[in-house]
Amino acid sequence: MNYENILVSTENSILTLTINRPDKLNALNKKTLQEIKLVFEQVYDDKKVRGIIITGAGDKAFVAGADIVEFKDFSKEQGKKMAEAGHAVFNLIENCKKPVIAAVNGFALGGGCELAMACHMRVASTTAKFGQPEVNLGIIPGYGGTQRLVQLVGKGKALELLTTGDMIGADEAKSLGLVNHVTSKEELMAKCIEIIEKTKSKSPIAVNGVIRAVNAYFEEGTDGFKEEIDVFRKCFGTTDFSEGTAAFIEKRKPNF
Ligand code: COA
Repeated sequence: MNYENILVSTENSILTLTINRPDKLNALNKKTLQEIKLVFEQVYDDKKVRGIIITGAGDKAFVAGADIVEFKDFSKEQGKKMAEAGHAVFNLIENCKKPVIAAVNGFALGGGCELAMACHMRVASTTAKFGQPEVNLGIIPGYGGTQRLVQLVGKGKALELLTTGDMIGADEAKSLGLVNHVTSKEELMAKCIEIIEKTKSKSPIAVNGVIRAVNAYFEEGTDGFKEEIDVFRKCFGTTDFSEGTAAFIEKRKPNF
């Protein structure tokens, strides 16, 4: 499939999605969001894809935000539609059945920081910069940033970052729990691949179950503990369960 604003490649069951508007620092316009959505809809039940890495094209940016030029004249109604469309795409990413890692290779601002936060994990190069600068534009984050930033760094620091619009570097982001690992620019993709390779050797049903149960913690109206019991229950009787337990007893590696 040919896309206008993203590049998609798959190697060793790992799909890499590169936001490809480097001249605009990979700003997310409507078309780009639609293309990201298409990819995640396609991989949802695709057993051949076992992990996804999202990154940005060029040296400078992961994603420098939603496309300001595109939304600058929006009415309230258009603003609402824009946020709803973004939420739909980012929820799809968050609920993807396989691990999704943001390889943050530069500016991750506004919608870019929100995109990274919708992923299950974040690995940043030392050149990465995170921030939610929407207050400079007279708006607030509209793609889940006010919620996911609180989840990741806590209320106090989230409020500071959201109200000041301050940018922080990779090391500070790591110290706050916003990113999992910091690497050199050269080692960024290798680190993401290393993590996905580890998860690939595990039961896909169990990895998917973990994502489901952890997400339940944050879902309004869902009791995460009950969800855990339900996901746990569903693991029994699966071929992965038979293989995993048999491999342990036979003192061999499981082959999922
Ligand atoms: N939307 C649309 N275009 C954007 C953009 C965005 N969020 N971020 C960057 N661009 C464009 C610039 O307009 C510029 O385009 P041009 O060459 O046609 O003028 C190009 O990307 C390069 O950006 P530039 O500002 O020249 O790079 P810089 O190195 O001087 O500054 C940033 C980098 C990230 C600090 C700056 O681009 C910026 O502040 N971007 C907006 C960040 C933001 O507010 N994001 C939240 C949006 S809700």
